[in-house]
Amino acid sequence: MLKQTQNKVQTIIGHKGYGKTALTEALTILNDKPAIICDPRFQFTCKQKRRIEFKSVGDFRKWIHVTANFRDFYKYKLELVVHAFDDTFQELGELVYKMKSLTFVVDEVDMFFDTKATSKNSLYKIIHYGRHSEIDLISTSRRPANISRNLTSQTDLFYFSKLREPTDKKYVKDAIGLEYVKVVETLEKFSFLKYEDNEKHTILTTSLTDLELLLKA
Ligand SMILES: Nc1ncnc2c1ncn2[C@@H]1O[C@H](COP(=O)(O)OP(=O)(O)OP(=O)(O)O)[C@@H](O)[C@H]1O
Ligand SMILES: [Mg+2]
Repeated sequence: MLKQTQNKVQTIIGHKGYGKTALTEALTILNDKPAIICDPRFQFTCKQKRRIEFKSVGDFRKWIHVTANFRDFYKYKLELVVHAFDDTFQELGELVYKMKSLTFVVDEVDMFFDTKATSKNSLYKIIHYGRHSEIDLISTSRRPANISRNLTSQTDLFYFSKLREPTDKKYVKDAIGLEYVKVVETLEKFSFLKYEDNEKHTILTTSLTDLELLLKA
């Protein structure tokens, strides 16, 4: 019998400074796979012992093509933080798509995968076909109205922090239902509405102590 493979798509959306990156770091560790983190705005510090920082996609490409590095990535569940930008994101996505069994983290995903993105975008392939190679995706955005609907439709788990803009509230209404707009309007800082595919929802409040403990683990 063929093995059923899956990939998990998690999307974190919320106001500036409300804890998206901190939650992403925790979810990446909890996902328990080696990770490649696309970090265009230098949000991820590299003090953790399992993290390696790459100034460019080219530097990352050279490193991952060395057999011993590739092996260490999986063996030690490393987190590779890559600073990719408009002109280099496509290549990063293509490199990730060739790999398997990892978490791909994209901070500020609407910079790379906005409403005008086409099926040629490497993230499109990862979202739609990543399940064949067990590539999970965790992405963040401040402005959901700017994200491609391709990501919305394939998201298994949403995390929303407080949203204020009418266009962002409309996104919540369209993505998960009108009844949740009131919930996201009234969230406290560092609290998230966690919404699963099957209409299951909970309010999750992160704590810096818990996040720090996870990062040190
Ligand atoms: N649960 C928490 N309790 C206290 N402080 C927190 C918590 N989560 C994050 N912080 C702190 O709040 C600040 C903002 O968090 P973070 O960078 O994760 O926000 P963000 O939503 O990613 O912001 P941006 O939109 O600018 O990227 C950071 O200094 C972080 O350490
Ligand atoms: Mg952030």
